[in-house]
Amino acid sequence: MQDALALKTRPLLPGFGVEILDIDIASADREMLDAVIDTFHRNGAIVLRNQSLTPAQQVAFTREFGEPEGNVREEFTHPDFPEIMIISNKIVDGKPIGNPEAGLNWHTDFQYGVRTALCTLLYGIETPAVGSDTLLADLCAAWNALPEEKQQQIDGLRTHFSYQLFQEKRGVALTQEQKDAMPDVLHPLVRRHPADGRKAIWGLAVGPVKRLVGKDGEEMDEEESIALIKELIAFCTQEKFVYAHKWQPGDLLVWDNRCTLHTGTRFDFDKYIRHVHRTWVRGDIPF
Ligand SMILES: [Fe+2]
Repeated sequence: MQDALALKTRPLLPGFGVEILDIDIASADREMLDAVIDTFHRNGAIVLRNQSLTPAQQVAFTREFGEPEGNVREEFTHPDFPEIMIISNKIVDGKPIGNPEAGLNWHTDFQYGVRTALCTLLYGIETPAVGSDTLLADLCAAWNALPEEKQQQIDGLRTHFSYQLFQEKRGVALTQEQKDAMPDVLHPLVRRHPADGRKAIWGLAVGPVKRLVGKDGEEMDEEESIALIKELIAFCTQEKFVYAHKWQPGDLLVWDNRCTLHTGTRFDFDKYIRHVHRTWVRGDIPF
């Protein structure tokens, strides 16, 4: 398949995501980079295989999408490039050099922030031969497939996110400075994509969600809220809406947090090393 800007692409799923073929990001020219970014905005996710990126090149490519978002927790960020989070189960001198696990539940990155993450870039340096797939759910397709009655029920609801609650549940103690940086926020449960106005069911997760808020501004019952969110997650993550990325070293996967839900999957820690560099880009306030 050849698109208008001469990129060679193939869809990840019908109507969702594209693999861009025969491109080397580190040496791509301006026109090529613009075409890649444009393709990203229209498709929800892009895959670029066989890349060879230094940390500086990954950060430079991340800047093509916007301003890199910082990391609230800094213990596993790259020593020279704080924009890069190291996700790794490598142990060096008896110490973990990265966050061994990141995101093993369906979620959208930085959904608990005032400005959420526009996109996330994962660059695979060492990847297990088995397991550790990244699953991406197409939330626009899920919205479009939702019965009209259900669309009317959920459009206009808002989700109350609490980063502090999320960390408390995980037994992580935050400093006052970290708490101040991450106040609770309300985001729409159905949002529009700023590139073309397409709608997506959005911000689904259990961990950082306190409750839903109704169209009348009334807080909904916590149990009822979580039940509805779980129901929507189950709907959106049906196999027909999900792309499973099977990793190879040199893969660069970029997903659009404005219209996808994602999760990692497990792998055999004793058998394999997974060493991945993650960057993300500051997003908008969802509307
Ligand atoms: Fe994530």
